[in-house]
Amino acid sequence: MKRAAVLAPSILSADFTHLAEQVAAAESAGIDWIHVDVMDGHFVPNLTMGPFIVEHLRRVTSLPLDVHLMVTNPEDLLEPFAHAGASHLTVHVETCPQAADTLQRIRALGCKAGLTLNPATPAEALRPALPLADLVLVMTVHPGYSGQAFMPEMVAKIASVRAMLDGIGSGAWLEVDGGISALTIAGTRRAGADAFVAANAIFRHPDGIAAGIGTLRDALSVP
Ligand code: DX5
Ligand code: ZN
Repeated sequence: MKRAAVLAPSILSADFTHLAEQVAAAESAGIDWIHVDVMDGHFVPNLTMGPFIVEHLRRVTSLPLDVHLMVTNPEDLLEPFAHAGASHLTVHVETCPQAADTLQRIRALGCKAGLTLNPATPAEALRPALPLADLVLVMTVHPGYSGQAFMPEMVAKIASVRAMLDGIGSGAWLEVDGGISALTIAGTRRAGADAFVAANAIFRHPDGIAAGIGTLRDALSVP
């Protein structure tokens, strides 16, 4: 029996002049988490949000805040983001030589510990720290920007990570991020994903936020 699908809109494509309203619209359309893309202009070319955005989000929603740290030294930011109200802190394996220790630190700060990897990094890189992960994120685009095309070759990687998690009896969420749309979401679900990030498909849907969420939910309900 598959776990219920978790939908995590990424505010990277939201209208920041109306952030609270946009989050409220998503929340009332039925979402599970809010995904926050933190980029440092170094690990990835783009520069986005710091802990203050999480602090402001925490005031307008009680949903879990799923913070994705695309930064070179994530260790320096764990405490500031945890104190700002992050619920999940996801770090890139490429930035954490001692990933198991990093995940343990995240748990000690009272957050769920997430581990992710770039498209070019093999799934095997996750293995040493996997037992300490509450969430594993498979990137389905090169991180940096919303609105990029889904990489279909990542579906096999999702299936490998699903097998690795099942193999160690892990109940971690398997999240996917990048190019998730009504056309791509079901394939990732079939490969074993159970948490889905989407920015453009939700915040840039031509018929609005609720329509974007409804379209993704419909696509997920197709067996
Ligand atoms: C990519 C970010 C994603 C991004 C997804 O670097 O990690 O969370 O916002 O955007 P879409 O869903 O538009 O591909
Ligand atoms: Zn992300």
